[in-house]
Amino acid sequence: MNNAAQFPIAAANGFGDLPHIDPDDDLITKFLPALHFYQLAIPAPKPQPGVDFDEEGAERGDTLFSGKAGCNNCHVEPLWTEPGWNLHTPGEIGIDSFQADRAPDHVYKTMNLAGLVVRENGLFMKPSNKGRFYHDGRFATLLDVVNHYNTRFSLALTAQEKHDLVEYLKSLPSDE
Ligand code: HEC
Repeated sequence: MNNAAQFPIAAANGFGDLPHIDPDDDLITKFLPALHFYQLAIPAPKPQPGVDFDEEGAERGDTLFSGKAGCNNCHVEPLWTEPGWNLHTPGEIGIDSFQADRAPDHVYKTMNLAGLVVRENGLFMKPSNKGRFYHDGRFATLLDVVNHYNTRFSLALTAQEKHDLVEYLKSLPSDE
């Protein structure tokens, strides 16, 4: 955190120099357990077949996800992230390193894919926050994300297969 080249803001403000912070000045930590409990108690929206996604397409997409499209290599079902070391270099996923270089290991974390339908449809949010996939919101729709992987990993997905993968993504978390 004291490395001014990698962490300019932290270094300028001494965030790496913890002993200078008086524990009695911490006004936040004592509230976090109650906040965590409240967050976990909120019922998660459950995607409805025929309303939020096409069930047959999602079933075909499920097969593609852990087959031809190779998504399950990183987004391991049923966590849709990786058990263990769930981090990847910018080069692996085919994007720039700007934000990864602000993290100690210069990597991005494999995101959990549950509840994507909420952002795909822009539910409970300002219209400007609809979509915005990846850490910096660079992809407006799930199809844009799938197209990105199709190019990055030379997956040769057909239009139908891309559609089916998107339907599967919109169906998560499934009961399976
Ligand atoms: C090499 C590992 C890897 C593979 C393979 C992979 N992903 Fe990802 N995925 C990631 C990482 C890492 C991120 C986080 C990117 C970031 O931080 O911007 C991510 C992010 C995403 C997101 C954005 C989630 C959000 O909340 O914004 C979606 C959707 C996604 N992946 C779907 C897929 C699909 C579909 C496939 C298969 C076609 C796939 N991924 C293959 C590693 C992978």
